[in-house]
Amino acid sequence: QTLDMELEAIEKGGYEHFMLKEIFEQPKSIGDCMRGRLNANEGRLVLGGIREYANKLVNAERIVIVACGTSWHAGLVAEYFIEEFCRIPVEVEYASEFRYRNPIIREGDIVFAISQSGETADTLAAIELAKSKGAIIFGVCNVVGSSISRVSHEGAYTHAGPEIGVASTKAFTAQLTVLNMIALRVAHKKGTITERRYHELLVELENIPAKVEKALKLDNQIKEISETFKDARNFLYLGRGYNFPVALEGALKLKEISYIHAEGYPAAEMKHGPIALIDEEMPVVVIATRDSSYDKVVSNIQEVRARKGRVIAVVTEGDALIPQMAEFVIEVPKTDEALMPMVSVIPLQLLSYHIAVMRGCNVDQPRNLAKSVTVE
Ligand code: G6P
Repeated sequence: QTLDMELEAIEKGGYEHFMLKEIFEQPKSIGDCMRGRLNANEGRLVLGGIREYANKLVNAERIVIVACGTSWHAGLVAEYFIEEFCRIPVEVEYASEFRYRNPIIREGDIVFAISQSGETADTLAAIELAKSKGAIIFGVCNVVGSSISRVSHEGAYTHAGPEIGVASTKAFTAQLTVLNMIALRVAHKKGTITERRYHELLVELENIPAKVEKALKLDNQIKEISETFKDARNFLYLGRGYNFPVALEGALKLKEISYIHAEGYPAAEMKHGPIALIDEEMPVVVIATRDSSYDKVVSNIQEVRARKGRVIAVVTEGDALIPQMAEFVIEVPKTDEALMPMVSVIPLQLLSYHIAVMRGCNVDQPRNLAKSVTVE
């Protein structure tokens, strides 16, 4: 018993929970994911797992992404990224829905399956269905040798290392890293991205670990914010563009480990429903980094304020406007809007972690949840 406890303490590397350790590992896990694959200086981007089918990807008429949970959120970010830079239409499907609705898959269609564990039953079944219709499967898995990696035609591992905490953190940012690299490679080959933009994004991708490191320094500030909101009964998360899936992910993290009801919403959709929920008791986390939808998101913050909602805004460093309207402001380092999810998700992971700890929840093993769901 005591030996087990000591072993566990060693595995946690001085952190109180695996989740916190994994959140803090992200500068390294994102770096590991890029190691040997990306070198911005030399303009080099190689992914061993994408060779034989590289041309099929370049010529794909569409890409379908299947996944569950946090991996599905990574798929949503990838949809924006792939469509913007590769100009290939992308559909993101919950694996469980995909297989029960007789989806249209044609011979040679590309299916990306994203899964940390590589064992999720619904994702596996979706792959089998797509395969039976002649699709080519690209697996994006973390666990080496997992079932999904074995049934895929090709793929790329995320190399984030073992993720023990049930709530996925470092696997998510590693999935984004891999998906961005694949998309940039395809876009470059296809000629749908300018040389300038391509190099800009390679350089910026290489800078992400340092920016995540900086975002992790927000830990103490986020702990204080958590103290204020730990007894909230609901939370709303808003984001737009690349930050919309981040809003969904932030809400999922909070639900999973603190059992507070939380909803993620596209910021502009707020007026079509969730705005009715806003009163002085409603914390609203708005991801409002400097990007092409910044002005619109600022208006959303004003709408929340006008209804006395309590705004916690995630903004780009140096933002002068939002601090005048939000109750709490969390400043993250600036990066390209297409890569921002890897940075803007960090404070949301920390927020859910601290709130859950303050509520006395079992952070690493939340009730009713499993690390990998191998039943349908
Ligand atoms: C479970 C886990 C989630 C995870 C989801 C998909 O619900 O609790 O954290 O995102 O499964 O898992 P996968 O291993 O396929 O990414």
